[in-house]
Amino acid sequence: MWQRLSFRTQLFLPLGVMFIAALLMGGILLHVFTTGQLAEENEPAQRSTRAVAEALNSALRSSENPRRTLDDFVGRLDASSDIQFHSAEAGSPPFAPRPLQGPHSPPGWFVDLLAVPDLHIAFPVTIGSQRVGDIVFSPDLSAALFETWAGFLALAGVLVVLAGLTAVIAYVLAGSALRPLQDLGAGLTRIRRGDYATPIPVVGPPEIRQSCKEANALAATLAQLSQDNRELLHRMVSLQDDERRDLARELHDELGPLLFSIRAGTIALSETSPRTGNLGNSMQEVMRSVEALQHTNRRILDRLRPLYIEELGLEASVQTLLNNFRRQAPHIGLTAALDPGLNGIDGPLAQTVYRLIQEALTNVLRHAAARNAHVQASIAGEALAIDISDDGAGFPADNVFGRGLTGMHERVRALSGSLSLLRADDRTYVRCRLPLAGVPISA
Ligand SMILES: Nc1ncnc2c1ncn2[C@@H]1O[C@H](COP(=O)(O)OP(=O)(O)OP(=O)(O)O)[C@@H](O)[C@H]1O
Ligand SMILES: [Mg+2]
Repeated sequence: MWQRLSFRTQLFLPLGVMFIAALLMGGILLHVFTTGQLAEENEPAQRSTRAVAEALNSALRSSENPRRTLDDFVGRLDASSDIQFHSAEAGSPPFAPRPLQGPHSPPGWFVDLLAVPDLHIAFPVTIGSQRVGDIVFSPDLSAALFETWAGFLALAGVLVVLAGLTAVIAYVLAGSALRPLQDLGAGLTRIRRGDYATPIPVVGPPEIRQSCKEANALAATLAQLSQDNRELLHRMVSLQDDERRDLARELHDELGPLLFSIRAGTIALSETSPRTGNLGNSMQEVMRSVEALQHTNRRILDRLRPLYIEELGLEASVQTLLNNFRRQAPHIGLTAALDPGLNGIDGPLAQTVYRLIQEALTNVLRHAAARNAHVQASIAGEALAIDISDDGAGFPADNVFGRGLTGMHERVRALSGSLSLLRADDRTYVRCRLPLAGVPISA
């Protein structure tokens, strides 16, 4: 839970808790000390009240007319004084201590928080043996409470200012540490996506600067490795093509003439020998086998080497490939849209386009169970876009790459292109994008 909070929240939560704890602590201290302080402050006044009560009682005892003496005393008492006389005669209202709150007093919750002790105290006044009333001490605490309230407000004010300042400093500091971290994160994402060229800005505190430098060094190493990898793939694919060309030449130059001479020999033999009996049957057998071998040899040659690219151009070679497919699979309706600009492409790029379409169509034939297929090759700006699609069942869920798809990937990566296998609108797509950089294009 805590880990999921943002860095700023993790910083501000403890600060907020500290602020509230400090306020609570202030409240508790006020509560503890104010109670004692009020009791202590009023203690002398309580003692004076006792002295006044004793003096009054003694004066009443020695007075000839105690009632008048008492009335004189009561009449001289200041109504606002903390010391008052409360009559105990029948009909007098019960004594009510002074209220704690007046017009300028602190709010009720604060007074409740302080738990002000009951400081009022009463000493009996007697005439003869009869208790005629009490000398009562009932202090006015509003000034003391207001003073405490003002102290509390000052404490809270200081705390608010301190907490605000701390929050601003923490916010600015967190921002200055987080921005480089965010840049670093964005940079690492770019590296993961294969963009090694955009450097991560080396800013922020030394620890983060060091990480940025390391990430930039990592990007440089990865760029080098990726370049090496592409060159290696390029070399591998070229070697593969060279080997196929050599093999095709051998088959064409060595096997072709041999098959031709066997066929010619068999024809000559059949013309000079009687055509009846076992010999005639055997010669026809040999002729059929030689023709089958020649046919197979031509098919292997076609697959091994797209002979036509150099002579006919890429577009015409692909058209030948498509025609072969139509002959081989008349049950699949094959349509195509080929950019005539393809004829301006040669070398490894042309080989790649040819092999890609060849393998994708072979896969349609072997795996798709499709009724229609479409080949599209177009030049858009600096890129060559190739789509081979079919309306078959699509790739199996647990599809495993064989030599065909692996070879396609290797060829495309060697040319810094991209290859994706998609399913959209009930069609299966093999989609390839190849950069044309450095390739002369003539429309
Ligand atoms: N157009 C397609 N429709 C449905 N499945 C396909 C299609 N193309 C390829 N696949 C699936 O992808 C798998 C891998 O294809 P890939 O060309 O790599 O190997 P392969 O055709 O099985 O054998 P090979 O190595 O001879 O090419 C296939 O076995 C097939 O299941
Ligand atoms: Mg295949």
